[in-house]
Amino acid sequence: MRNEEIIRQAAEIIERGGIVAFPTETVYGLGADAFNSLAVARVFEVKRRPYFDPLIVHVANPRDVKKLAKKIPTDAKRLTEKFWPGPLTVVLLKEEQIPDIVTAGLPSVAIRMPNHPIALSLIKKSKCPIAAPSANLFGYLSPTTAEHVREQLGDQVDLILDGGPCPVGVESTIVSFLEEEPRLLRPGGVSLEEIESIIGKVEVAQIEEDRPSAPGMLPRHYAPRTPIVLHWDEKNLGLHKNKNIGLLAFQRPRDNEKFYSIEILSEKGDMREAAANLFAAIRRLDAMNLDLIFAEPVPEAGLGRAIMDRLRRASSGGQTSEELIKQSEI
Ligand code: TXA
Ligand code: MG
Repeated sequence: MRNEEIIRQAAEIIERGGIVAFPTETVYGLGADAFNSLAVARVFEVKRRPYFDPLIVHVANPRDVKKLAKKIPTDAKRLTEKFWPGPLTVVLLKEEQIPDIVTAGLPSVAIRMPNHPIALSLIKKSKCPIAAPSANLFGYLSPTTAEHVREQLGDQVDLILDGGPCPVGVESTIVSFLEEEPRLLRPGGVSLEEIESIIGKVEVAQIEEDRPSAPGMLPRHYAPRTPIVLHWDEKNLGLHKNKNIGLLAFQRPRDNEKFYSIEILSEKGDMREAAANLFAAIRRLDAMNLDLIFAEPVPEAGLGRAIMDRLRRASSGGQTSEELIKQSEI
């Protein structure tokens, strides 16, 4: 069947109150008509996502923001003009008619215009904004291929649109405009540097912060089954001779005999390529029944900030490999 025809079918499903998984440039989303509370409730159910964690509303045209938000501050407008369609989400004061289930009862709404032909076509054909979280079970890594969605959600969704691997690979950058100064709630596909080059200094929210306005910023999120260790050095490997340890490397590691399996994010050290490979690489390591995954930190600039944010959340709360091994042996 032709692409257009499948997307038309998907749009009909959305219009009838169904749920569809679809590709965006960042990760796959699980979408429903943002104005249909029952359909949105099914998204929460299928994902096993707690109702306190609000969804992003996806639009196909910047003009649609007017129907969703009370007002658009100048800086928000400048950012959307520059980065939409693209991996940027803005949090604005919401219009009354957006159902509470979408925004978890908050007075604000997160809005994004994705840069993916299938996502844009789906939203246009559905004739409604689409509320969509990432199409994974709550607390797990976001899917970057249709296969990832199938593995976790499979027949619980009405349709999965397959657009191949997502080119960006990490979720959108979220900037809140609820306060006087813009705040970065989640680093993502548009770098902080790029954002600050347009609107000047942006305050960065800390992940430890227990802020009800950003419930998705839970410190332990994106967690695979296998413990990920961020703080380790070569001598840790000697301590775990009888363990199978995987390495999530940024570039090619010097010493590769010591690891059971290695995933390289980008041979040439390109941060964009590394981000695009990140979640699939962790999933592959997670499927190997390893005892531990050692992750190599990447430089914390540009997209590296989003990668490190995801690695921190996927890792086991700063525990060392010794602590983790001890725990698993009890
Ligand atoms: O790239 C992305 O943003 C992907 C694709 C599918 O668009 N979506 C995504 O959605 O990552 P999700 O649900 O996995 O993450 C959305 C984040 C959550 O952390 C949620 O708490 C936050 O956005 N969020 C949503 N509405 C909010 C609001 N009104 N205020 C603050 N944070 C909000
Ligand atoms: Mg998510």
